[in-house]
Amino acid sequence: TALTQVPGGTYDLIVLANRLPVDHAVDENGRPCRRRSPGGLVTALHPIMKRRSGAWIGWHGRPGPAPAPFVHDGIHLHPIALTGDEVDGYYEGQSNGTIWPLYHDAVEQPQFHRVWQDRYRAVNRRFAEAAARVAAPGALVWVHDYHLQLVPGMLRELRPDLRIGFFLHIPFPPVELFCQMPMREEIMRGLLGADLVGFQHPQATRNFRTLAADLLGAKVTDRGIWYDGRDVAADTFPISIDVAEQQRLALDPAVRARAAEIRRELGDPRTIVLAVDRLDYTKGIECRLRAYEELLSERRLDPAQTVLVQVAVPTRQQIDQYQALRERVERAVSRINGEYAGIGRLSVHYVHQSFDRAELAALYLAADVMAVTPLRDGMNLVAKEYVATRTDGTGALVLSEFAGAAAELEEAWQVNPHDIDGLKDGIADAAEADVAEQRRRMDPMRAHLHAHDVNRWATGFMGRLDRLSRRWPRSAAA
Ligand code: ADP
Ligand code: G6P
Repeated sequence: TALTQVPGGTYDLIVLANRLPVDHAVDENGRPCRRRSPGGLVTALHPIMKRRSGAWIGWHGRPGPAPAPFVHDGIHLHPIALTGDEVDGYYEGQSNGTIWPLYHDAVEQPQFHRVWQDRYRAVNRRFAEAAARVAAPGALVWVHDYHLQLVPGMLRELRPDLRIGFFLHIPFPPVELFCQMPMREEIMRGLLGADLVGFQHPQATRNFRTLAADLLGAKVTDRGIWYDGRDVAADTFPISIDVAEQQRLALDPAVRARAAEIRRELGDPRTIVLAVDRLDYTKGIECRLRAYEELLSERRLDPAQTVLVQVAVPTRQQIDQYQALRERVERAVSRINGEYAGIGRLSVHYVHQSFDRAELAALYLAADVMAVTPLRDGMNLVAKEYVATRTDGTGALVLSEFAGAAAELEEAWQVNPHDIDGLKDGIADAAEADVAEQRRRMDPMRAHLHAHDVNRWATGFMGRLDRLSRRWPRSAAA
């Protein structure tokens, strides 16, 4: 059904993302409170939206009616309501049971259900309608991530005057995988409703351009993608972190004191290996634990002098694949501790909790080796946070080639996480590196991050969108 055009509102800049930057939670006293939402998308967008007055439209994280719009940290938040069935079908189902595994190389089997697809359409339409209601004439609307791929097309029908950008935070898969998707043409048409479609990695951009040509017969040239009477630009914009803020945390005396305290609490071992991930099957946690276990067993790492801290941030806990992963990971952790720990000395400290950013920064400072070894990851901001935190150039980053960050952090110990022997060599070499070797690798990575922080990412994307839309004026604005 065609969407009817609607008049607009007052915001010149609108971000749409499945999640708002704050979630409802419960504090130590059992009282409801607001807590920052997990994940890289919120980490990246939060500082930018704080600086520019705009609106953020998203889900508040619970089924049921939406709270009234409210202001948090200077950002105008417009909650979207999802029913329980929509949380099942749109969020847990189509977004996280179909698209998430399919776009991450199908490392878990994607499930396809028609009722999930219907709910995905309905919720995407609700987001598009909400943006259409509050956007000022000619406003810039920036749609984020895999939950909302139909929104650009729907929004263009409702409000042809808007300048619409879309950014995908996760990988965009090769043609063979994408084509499994029953809604494949619909999703491509939805994305091509934007003026500018951005990806984390050049390979994702290439996959998208190939699909536009193969699946929809779009004319793809160096200049852009010509489809349905319009030009659409597709390009790579690797996301980043707020480097100055991370550095401020790293130099905060309280954070530094906490880092020293963490080392003491861990028994002052020779080597602290740290891993920080949402407890997600894309993050390669099981392969990493296997590699660590073998390194202890072969005494390439001394069990009496080595500690692994695995922070596993709770995530998507209603979904079967995540529950099964948690059980497997917790079994592996107990097995390793059973074999190699001593009384009062653990080999793996496993924490299934959320931390605040200062505690996380203290952990980064305390860690000799940071192991970021996802099987596939759009970017991975944890890797960038570790590098930015190590202001003295020490520390060793072991990084999967399958993380988007590998294209930028070339000096890390890069590993193929599927190759357990290679992974072991990477971790062992990183643990052995002297300070000169650490700095030789860390310095260029730190310089790269300074020149490519999240602000540059955002202004790069929005500036490009601005320039494009001036070149192709919209009817209502003309
Ligand atoms: P993803 O987006 O897949 O979760 P990223 O590595 O890109 O992966 O982003 C994760 C973000 O979540 C980082 O900014 C990181 O600092 C933050 N984070 C990691 N661990 C925790 C934790 N225990 N509590 C709160 N935030 C965390
Ligand atoms: C990744 C996705 C984000 C998502 C985050 C946390 O970073 O790209 O869109 O918000 O994971 O996942 P969740 O399902 O809790 O929102």
